[in-house]
Amino acid sequence: MFEITAFDAPLGAEITNFDFSRDGHLVDEIVEAWHQHVILVFRDQPTEPRTLASIARIFGTPVRQPLQRPEYQVEGFPELRLLSSLHIDTLGDREPLRIGGSWHTDHSHFPVPPRATILQAIKIPEQGGDTCFSNQRSAYEALDEETRSRIDSLSAKHVYNSRFTPRRMPTITGDEGKKQPEALHPVARPHPDTGNRSIYLNPVRVDGIEGMDDEAAMALVNELMDHSTADEFVYRHKWRVGDVLIWDNRQALHMVHHDYAPDVERLMIRTMIEGP
Ligand SMILES: [Fe+2]
Repeated sequence: MFEITAFDAPLGAEITNFDFSRDGHLVDEIVEAWHQHVILVFRDQPTEPRTLASIARIFGTPVRQPLQRPEYQVEGFPELRLLSSLHIDTLGDREPLRIGGSWHTDHSHFPVPPRATILQAIKIPEQGGDTCFSNQRSAYEALDEETRSRIDSLSAKHVYNSRFTPRRMPTITGDEGKKQPEALHPVARPHPDTGNRSIYLNPVRVDGIEGMDDEAAMALVNELMDHSTADEFVYRHKWRVGDVLIWDNRQALHMVHHDYAPDVERLMIRTMIEGP
């Protein structure tokens, strides 16, 4: 039987001694722990595509990856995607993409964004390449009552690439561009399973807040981001090869540190679980 141990951190727990063929049916225990801890790390998992594909099904239905370029594909697994630090912007300036390098939640411009993202570490730099996670539920609960009531009724508009984004996104072609949706989401989004609200923002995608002018909207976004990504809400994950890490996109933001040499490969496999 596996063991779940909470990290000494504002969020996160690790699962040790987990064997999918023996423990994969214990869905309720695992999903309940995940809701509570927001991220779970399954340690020492075999680095084969089917490991990630199997663990993903504990949490729901995997999403077919929206951008499937040849260099991203895992043969036989349309729900998986390779994320390599050596991937370049093939349709843009051909510079390395260094994807995920600022705070965000995945695919929030979708009307129903993926509830979860799961990564497995395949190659990790000797130093650097950590991923940080912020607990957006705790950050919401720590706001004063006046701020909570001010944001509870607000909705933000999320697009593929905001006018105010702090970083580049992969260049997309005309057809891919036309397929990119836009969506409105509550700034203080209730969790569909628990009802608890979290601050649900994404500086890469948020292009405005309904009923507010741009200046006031972005001032509020920046104020809430400064609050929710303070050290007291953040866990920094140092990857080990074999780690399978799942986070709840509705309760956490994440950000990769690309603080390693440009010729060193950091390679992950990713899948996402259908929302809400
Ligand atoms: Fe991401």
